[in-house]
Amino acid sequence: MKKVISVVGARPNFMKVAPIHKAFQKYKNSITHLICHTGQHYDEKMSKVFFDDLELPKPHFYLGIGSGSHAEQTAKVMMEFEKILLQEKPDLVIVVGDVNSTIACSLTASKLHIKVAHVEAGLRSFDMKMPEEINRILTDRISDFLFVTEKSGLENLKHEGVPDEKVFFTGNVMIDSLNNYIEKAKSSPVMKELGLEPGKFVLMTMHRPSNVDSETQLKSLVNLISSVSQKRKIVFPVHPRTRKNLENFNLILQLNSNVILTDPIGYLDFINLIKNAELILTDSGGIQEESTFLGIQCITLRTTTERPVTVDVGTNLLIGDDFNLAEKAALENLNGKIKKGSIPDLWDGKAAERITEVLSGKI
Ligand code: UD1
Repeated sequence: MKKVISVVGARPNFMKVAPIHKAFQKYKNSITHLICHTGQHYDEKMSKVFFDDLELPKPHFYLGIGSGSHAEQTAKVMMEFEKILLQEKPDLVIVVGDVNSTIACSLTASKLHIKVAHVEAGLRSFDMKMPEEINRILTDRISDFLFVTEKSGLENLKHEGVPDEKVFFTGNVMIDSLNNYIEKAKSSPVMKELGLEPGKFVLMTMHRPSNVDSETQLKSLVNLISSVSQKRKIVFPVHPRTRKNLENFNLILQLNSNVILTDPIGYLDFINLIKNAELILTDSGGIQEESTFLGIQCITLRTTTERPVTVDVGTNLLIGDDFNLAEKAALENLNGKIKKGSIPDLWDGKAAERITEVLSGKI
């Protein structure tokens, strides 16, 4: 029997590991697949609700790391994960995405000479000020199997000299989850609960340090929300980082009855909101992809994207971090200037099956 441990740490990891766990069930006579939750995200609304919505089993290992500086968070994950690896001696560790838990666990495993697979490899924003960019580059450098979601990833890894034998273009596991749960999400009561009509509201998410850690940028965010809410209802599930900073700077977002602020929202409710939104304003990585898959208009408030296929092929418009420009683009979009898009190659709901097929032949 071979043993594989997949790592989840933060909110964007859960929907990536869920289809991988499901796909491993086909090999259950030869491979045991276990899940380790580092506890980087620990709030019920950032974590547990995703396990329920995605029908993930209770994690086999929980490291309970919680918040901290980057160094603290990364170091604590490494120390705790090392104990699990020494005890369990897995044949392979799977990490997904680009969060601190991703680099911490891949580094720990590779130093113990345990093979590492990185799912969502090769994405690059070329912005080394983003903590996620550092995590991506370093994780790819030490991984044995690199599973890529879009062609830019193949090119980036080639440029960095990664041998072709390590790289597999398998599609997007996050889209597997979207594909698996979009039907079920239709019965979510969230639209009714928030008093929304399909196609008549703007959905916003904002949590990147570059957008929410400075007072000036947060003030422009409040202006942007104020302006867009003159035209449409705007739903904004507020990330804990953003909430803390708004409180620290004494900024009030509850501007008028068109602004609907909520706590972080569960997976099924959130994809229901994406599906029904007229426009999304975001700085998230994953939402750029989910909106492209569902053909929903998306404006990304960042200067770079590590997911260029969502701009080249999909419905995503990368506007930069000047929120005055974002306001103009949002209002134009709501006035009918929309971007047509199509679905990127291999975003077909079968990425996890391809990944487990490759891995089952390698470990
Ligand atoms: C992390 C990831 C980012 C991802 C995002 C999604 C890194 C470097 N960043 O950023 O790539 O897009 O998650 O959400 O790994 N907090 C809570 N409750 C929680 C989790 C966090 O209150 O359940 C607080 C923390 O105490 C901290 C802040 O939110 O003050 C930020 O959390 P942290 O895990 O450091 O990074 P994120 O900004 O969430």
